[in-house]
Amino acid sequence: MTARIIDGKAIAKKVRDEVAERVRGLVSAHGRAPGLDVVLVGEDAASVVYTRNKEKAAIEVGVRGRLHRLPAETTEAELLSVIRKLNEDPTVDGILVQLPLPKHIREQSVLDAIDPDKDVDGFHPHNAGLLLSGRPHLVPCTPVGCMRLLREAGVELSGARAVVVGRSNIVGKPMAQLLLAANATVTIAHSKTRDLPGLCREADVLIAAIGRAKMIGADFVKPGAAVIDVGINRGEDGKLCGDVDYEPAKEKASAITPVPGGVGPMTIACLLENTLRAFEKREQKA
Ligand code: GUN
Repeated sequence: MTARIIDGKAIAKKVRDEVAERVRGLVSAHGRAPGLDVVLVGEDAASVVYTRNKEKAAIEVGVRGRLHRLPAETTEAELLSVIRKLNEDPTVDGILVQLPLPKHIREQSVLDAIDPDKDVDGFHPHNAGLLLSGRPHLVPCTPVGCMRLLREAGVELSGARAVVVGRSNIVGKPMAQLLLAANATVTIAHSKTRDLPGLCREADVLIAAIGRAKMIGADFVKPGAAVIDVGINRGEDGKLCGDVDYEPAKEKASAITPVPGGVGPMTIACLLENTLRAFEKREQKA
């Protein structure tokens, strides 16, 4: 069997079109556009590209997007002061601080400082707790994007065995919660898991979020499984590749996401959805 390729680029376009349509309605109902403020500290090349893309994608759907670039020497106190200003600014609905931060800044103290109602990354402990309690508000964008890909691909989750490889706060843990909420039977695997290939072979739905190029080979894939590849790595040949060894894996899976063009484009699209969600909740309160 050769797998159906889940076209993340096309699905992300559909999501962005839906967002653009909703923005038009929100602007006419509330007299202002949702605002997304992205903060980048330092010059990390990948982060510069990601944050520019976030700003650009926001503006394209009619969201007021703004990128704040701070020098690498910015102190934690200075960054916290920028966040406080954005928290207090009524025209700001979403705040995203791009990770990783320079080493002298404590990531958790920065993430904790963001107003949970503006936390469009969903990384604040308040939002993580709401997701865990089954009352999700702002949920991390990458796992939400993966769920949308599974839905668009028509993958049945209720009663399915799902294995999530990776336990980060950004992807693995929230991904597991979303699959559980969709009635899958979920296992979180990680670097200490025994017999990882054997465990993965039990999965009807396999989510790879480890950050190691092509680590998930065809021998990890149950015939007919749906495979979602969250990894973005640079392979030995210098090309972008996922955590899944795509060519052999696609001969066993029933549906699979490519890298690039799978999960990647969905993350920004879901960030825009979160910005609208934050806007709507804040307008309801106002
Ligand atoms: N760095 C890599 N992925 C992400 C993300 O989803 N959000 C933020 N803020 N930084 C990141």
